[in-house]
Amino acid sequence: MTYDVTLIPGDGIGPEITTQTVRVLEATGLRFTWDEELAGMAAVEATGTPLPDATVESIRKNALALKGPLTTPVGTGFRSVNVGLRKEFELFANVRPARTIAPGGRFENVDIVLVRENLEGLYIGVEHFVQIGDDPRAVGESMAIVTRAGCERIVRFAFDYALKHGRKQVTIVHKANILKMVSGLFLEVGREVAREYEGRVAANDMIVDNTAMQLVMRPEQFDVMVTTNMFGDILSDEVSGLVGGLGLAPGANIGTRAAIFEAVHGSAPDIAGQGIANPSAQMLAAAMMLDHVGELDRAQRIRDAIADTIVRDHIRTRDLGGTASTEEFGRAVVRRVA
Ligand code: NAI
Ligand code: MG
Repeated sequence: MTYDVTLIPGDGIGPEITTQTVRVLEATGLRFTWDEELAGMAAVEATGTPLPDATVESIRKNALALKGPLTTPVGTGFRSVNVGLRKEFELFANVRPARTIAPGGRFENVDIVLVRENLEGLYIGVEHFVQIGDDPRAVGESMAIVTRAGCERIVRFAFDYALKHGRKQVTIVHKANILKMVSGLFLEVGREVAREYEGRVAANDMIVDNTAMQLVMRPEQFDVMVTTNMFGDILSDEVSGLVGGLGLAPGANIGTRAAIFEAVHGSAPDIAGQGIANPSAQMLAAAMMLDHVGELDRAQRIRDAIADTIVRDHIRTRDLGGTASTEEFGRAVVRRVA
């Protein structure tokens, strides 16, 4: 079996960390056909647009992409790459796992997967100003749109994810006490879907502001969490922060027509080209890609290899207090995986 994957090395540290990630994937013994495509600044320089049609076509054909970080061109008229991909492939679910790897951090036992609805809610960006008297911007108004079908799809995704990964509980995060319709609908549908999984996956619900506090007081109480777009945006960064931040945080964007896997961090222009970036987040994203195609054992091998390299071998990049280069770290993980 060979997996056809669109590989977007990306900008800044992207090529350095994706090179090591590809080595680790191939060390699992699986076979890949890499279709290397451009996006971001690299694509602007080569083709004049940050998201060339050839890249979109490749993802459409493979339905699977491993993406390095992209530098967002500031102050140009180009469409945003992330928005372009999200719309093209209906990437409705953003999945962010956060697990304690290196001990000695603030929390010892964090193992959370946050599932964020990615297409609806306040972030649809339907907003306008209202003029009062001479002031054209006297009032700003924004509309949040949440559909029953959208709620059902994302909550079902979270419960199915829990089942597939042997997780025990899904927490539905909302603000239905104030936003009785947009958040109320999410909670109502969430509870309906939860009943279908009774006896297989436990469910509870929690108001978002309390959730933000509980996350920093007692993060061990959470397992899988599911929420709407804006709450998910905020809480997913909080969750990454619980386990040591950007260098270890992967993410997946799952859609009806494709799935795209990437690190949460950006292109880190301040350290690009120096060979010192931490490739762990990109490697953990690759492990999520293997989960997605059903290679659960190999995915776990990659996660264990990264943890063992950091904790047992004490091989760490600079951001984690070590001296290893990107390549040295990559070689160590390959050794553990193979
Ligand atoms: P950033 O995540 O690139 O960097 C923030 C800080 O974290 C920097 O000090 C950087 O050196 C460090 N850092 C990030 N990843 C690291 C790694 N793997 N190993 C070691 N250190 C690491 O965020 P910033 O500087 O705000 O954005 C830079 C560019 O990346 C911008 O053009 C931004 O638009 C883009 N970006 C792209 C994303 C994507 O493609 N998914 C996500 C976030 C930002
Ligand atoms: Mg965000």
